Amino acid sequence: MHYRIDFSRISTSYKDHSLVQRSAADLLLNLLEIGESDDVLDLGCGVGNLTEKIRKMTGGRVVGIDPSEGMIREAVERNRGLDITFEIKGVEELDYEDSFDVIFCNSVFQWFRDPQNAIKNCYASLREGGRIGVQAPAKSVYSPNFIEAIERVKEDPETEVIFAHFEEPWFFLETAEEYRNLFENCGFRVVLSEIESVKTEHTPEEVFNIFSSGAAAGYLNQDFYDVEIGADYVKSFERVVNDAFLRQADGRGVVTLIFNRIFLVAVKVCHPVICATASSSPIISCSPVLMSRSVTIPDSTSCFPMITA
Ligand SMILES: C[S@@+](CC[C@H](N)C(=O)[O-])C[C@H]1O[C@@H](n2cnc3c(N)ncnc32)[C@H](O)[C@@H]1O
Repeated sequence: MHYRIDFSRISTSYKDHSLVQRSAADLLLNLLEIGESDDVLDLGCGVGNLTEKIRKMTGGRVVGIDPSEGMIREAVERNRGLDITFEIKGVEELDYEDSFDVIFCNSVFQWFRDPQNAIKNCYASLREGGRIGVQAPAKSVYSPNFIEAIERVKEDPETEVIFAHFEEPWFFLETAEEYRNLFENCGFRVVLSEIESVKTEHTPEEVFNIFSSGAAAGYLNQDFYDVEIGADYVKSFERVVNDAFLRQADGRGVVTLIFNRIFLVAVKVCHPVICATASSSPIISCSPVLMSRSVTIPDSTSCFPMITA
């Protein structure tokens, strides 16, 4: 079955409510260390708030793509006058070849229906030595807070019958090793793959808004139900989830929101055999949240020419 994920419904409020996506995005931007002349593709750019940030980091070409018409409309509107190309396009339709130094993919990977094909398209779009940075929710329990709220939806008399017809659209792997293998099987050299349990504190209302800015695009999307979902169901669903977040608040009225997130950086290098003796230079260092670890990006310029005996 082919799904078209439509974020248009939430595009106008996305920038204000996507708090979690943004803080994790800053980590990913730090990891990628975009150079001043890098050509960058913001894959699944949403309303383009991070594309705007990227624009300030490089004098190179900046392109944002997203399959959601509403998101791109908003992105174009918000970034008028900036030299950014926005296109309505999903990763499935990526038709660039050796065109970018960096692909930035923040809070999008979980939506890919065919991740392997998506990675192959990214590989083709990057220049040799180019890198992709992915940050996305990981593990089936991607957020214990959200999963607990969904357990309530499953049990509530107003939502249980229809929710039983929900088919989860997301792609999650359980370990950093599995993510690493997925990228390495497509030819990338993975220089960082870690699942972090990221904790942030919010009011229940903020948590509800965060839920609405991402997960709701799946849970309240007609495409993922095989029965009709009406306005009453949406209203009841939102009530149950909202109540769950209110109950998760501590004595201070604060919810500790936990998200398991994969942080992955991978480089397009020439064939591993050819690169076997290539030198490496440390050009990326992780943020403190990623335990101040350093990652090393292979220097692709020192690859030897292919010898065909
Ligand atoms: C949670 S938003 C993240 C937006 C932005 N990257 C950010 O971090 O603020 C997820 C975005 O992924 C986009 N998306 C979903 N499926 C996609 C696909 N197959 N290819 C590219 N983008 C996709 C959605 O339209 C949506 O704008």
